Amino acid sequence: MELARFSVSMDAALLEQFDELIREVGQASRSDAIRDLVRGRLIEADVGDERRHALGVLTLVYDHHRSELQERLTALQHDHLEVIVTTTHVHIDHHHCLEVLLMKGRAGRLRRLAAQIGALPGVEHSQLMLTGTLRKEQQ
Ligand code: NI
Repeated sequence: MELARFSVSMDAALLEQFDELIREVGQASRSDAIRDLVRGRLIEADVGDERRHALGVLTLVYDHHRSELQERLTALQHDHLEVIVTTTHVHIDHHHCLEVLLMKGRAGRLRRLAAQIGALPGVEHSQLMLTGTLRKEQQ
C-alpha cells in the first residue's frame, strides 16, 4: 500500500484538544487518529447511500404487555427474514424487554424496517446503528 503525505492546517486550540483526546484513548499518533476519522467518515457516507449494502444493529426497548406488540414484532421479522440475521432478547424487568436485531442488506431497506419496527405502539426506545466495511480501493 502506497502512503501519501499531506499537511493539515487547523486552529491551534482545536489541535490541542485533538492531541489530548489522542493521548486519552491511547492512539499512537495523529496520523493514526486521522486515518481512523477518515475511515469512519467514509463508512458513514457509504451507509448514507440507500443502495449500499450495510450491517445494521437495531436495539429496542419495549413493554411486552402492550397488546399485540409481541405478535406484530414477530410478524414483521418473519416478513423480512432475508435481512434479519439474528435477534437477542433480554427480559429487563416485569414489563420491559430489550431486543437487539442484527441485520444485513441495503441501507435504505434497513432504515425503513427499523422505522417501521420503532413506530409499533409499545416500543419505548429504538435506535439503529448502520456500519459496513470500506470498499477495497479505500482500505
Ligand atoms: Ni422479555
